[in-house]
Amino acid sequence: MQTIWITGGSSGIGFAVAKKFINENWRVIISSRNENNLEEAIKKIEEETNKKNIFAIKCDVSKYEDVKKTINEIEKNIAPIDIALLNAAAYSPNKTQDFDIKNYELLIEVNLNGTLNCIDVLKEFMKNRNNHIAIVSSPVGFRGMPTAGAYGMTKAAQLNLAESLYFDFKKLDIKISVINPGFIDTESTRLNSFKMPFLKSANYAADKIFYGLTNKYKFEIYFPFIIVFLVKIMRVLPLKIYSFIWKKLGNF
Ligand SMILES: NC(=O)c1ccc[n+]([C@@H]2O[C@H](COP(=O)([O-])OP(=O)(O)OC[C@H]3O[C@@H](n4cnc5c(N)ncnc54)[C@H](OP(=O)(O)O)[C@@H]3O)[C@@H](O)[C@H]2O)c1
Repeated sequence: MQTIWITGGSSGIGFAVAKKFINENWRVIISSRNENNLEEAIKKIEEETNKKNIFAIKCDVSKYEDVKKTINEIEKNIAPIDIALLNAAAYSPNKTQDFDIKNYELLIEVNLNGTLNCIDVLKEFMKNRNNHIAIVSSPVGFRGMPTAGAYGMTKAAQLNLAESLYFDFKKLDIKISVINPGFIDTESTRLNSFKMPFLKSANYAADKIFYGLTNKYKFEIYFPFIIVFLVKIMRVLPLKIYSFIWKKLGNF
């Protein structure tokens, strides 16, 4: 039986991915900060799947000691990790477009430092085992977008980091992937006040992530095709055209 560790596994995409892997007979460990949410998530998954190979460990990814303790516990007392899905994130849409330094600091702490903490500890265990680290980024990181400075910046950094580690970790025999979902219906995106195009369910995301991680190795896993493809095109447009599109979309 193979083992996946999912950070931010108590809700949204992480929860749906946990359920999918359990159904496919994997051993799953989910982590997040809130113990009650974790217990509830485990209960729901066990009820819905009728399987017991799921574990929960409380872990705040922004705290290095927490991450170190959690990964040690999994590796020594549960099983070696085959796939680590670095999915935990904080999200706070900056509706006013005000530059709020506290918001930037929080998102850097969780989304960026949290990812780095996990990778630093995982690499010591995973080296020479042909394991896999998958970082959940976002198409918001492809190019700066209005009101998305803090969140987008952390997602761009994750993407750039994954691109570098794709090369650097080859010598450690660790595979790196980046996952770029379009709009997925979760607690985070329910905070958005705009209509989200091509919105998909968390179960849809989970199917795509499972397929992407367990079939032929791919660096980038993205879905749904159409929205991510459109954002990829926006990435290379001249600034004048890019600004014009945003003006049309939301009077920015
Ligand atoms: N939903 C989308 O449309 C979308 C699109 C593109 C990319 N993404 C990315 O997909 C991932 C999951 O997003 P989601 O929409 O599923 O979010 P979500 O429903 O808000 O879930 C976030 C999860 O992260 C956990 N978390 C937050 N801070 C944490 C911390 N410091 N340490 C450990 N766990 C923490 C939360 O649990 P606790 O609060 O209990 O810790 C929760 O389990 C994120 O990386 C997000 O950027 C989402």
